[in-house]
Amino acid sequence: MTTAADVIRAAAGANAPTPRLGLVLGSGLGGLADAVQDATAIPYAELPGFPVGSVAGHAGRLVLGTLAGTPVVVLQGRAHLYEGIPVSDLAVPVRTVRALGAESIVLTNAAGSLRADVGPGRLMALTDHINMMGVNPLTGINNDTIGPRFVGLGDAYDLPLKRALKAAAVAEGVDLSEGVYLAVGGPSFETPAEIRAFKVLGADAVGMSTVPEVIVARHCGLRVVAVSAITNLAEGLGDEVLTHEHTLASAATASADLQRVLTRFVKDYV
Ligand code: HPA
Repeated sequence: MTTAADVIRAAAGANAPTPRLGLVLGSGLGGLADAVQDATAIPYAELPGFPVGSVAGHAGRLVLGTLAGTPVVVLQGRAHLYEGIPVSDLAVPVRTVRALGAESIVLTNAAGSLRADVGPGRLMALTDHINMMGVNPLTGINNDTIGPRFVGLGDAYDLPLKRALKAAAVAEGVDLSEGVYLAVGGPSFETPAEIRAFKVLGADAVGMSTVPEVIVARHCGLRVVAVSAITNLAEGLGDEVLTHEHTLASAATASADLQRVLTRFVKDYV
C-alpha cells in the first residue's frame, strides 16, 4: 500500500534532506509555509489517508523543504473534528511527519484566552492540556509498531523545546505567555457558563484542535511544542462577537509575531 510518506518522498526526490521538524500551521497562521525554500508542495487530497478540511483560512497542503537552514515538513492547514472527520483520521498527518524522519513537531492554533491579561494578538506557549473533546485519537486497535497501547502524557509538552521557543521569543522581542489549553469539539463557540467552568478547571486558552495531534505525536515518539495565537477573549470575558471571520482577522495580527518566533526557533533548533 502506498503511504503518504511514500508519495512525499517520491515527489521530493532522493536528494531531499530528511526533515528534522514538523510544523502544523493553524487557522490564519499558514504564511510561514511561503518562507520554505526548495519547497515541494503537495495538496492533502493527493496524500493517501490525509483528511481534507474545508475551513476557510486553511490551505490544506504539505510543504517539504528548508526553513532558516533546517529541513522541515510544514502542514499548512489541518482538518478538525467538527468537520465530521473521524478522530482517528487526524492521526495520519502527524504519523506522516514521524514517518518522514522528523523527531519533533511544532503545533500552532488560534485560540480564545481565559486570561484577561493575555488578549487578542498575543502568543501563548502550551504547558499542558485538558481534553474536553470527548474522544481520543488512539481509540481502537493499537498498532504496536507505531507506539504503545497506553501513552503517558505527564511530559507531553517538551520542556527543553518550550524553553527554546521562549528564547526565540525573547530574541525577537515578542511577549510569549504560557498556559493550559483546553480543547472542545466545536464548531459552536463556548457559552459564558462553559468558560466560567473551564476557568475553574484550570484552562488558560480554549480551542478546537491540537489535542488529538499532541496525543498522536506522543504515541509515535515525537517531541511536542505548541503555541496558541490568541484571537479573542473567551466568551463572556470580552465584548467582541465571536465569529470565524474575527478569528482569522485576529490570527493575522498574531501571525507576524508567530512567524518571526518560529523562524528563529527553527533556525536555532539543535
Ligand atoms: N473558542 C474556541 N475556539 C477558538 C476560539 C474560542 O474562543 N477562538 C479561536 N478559536
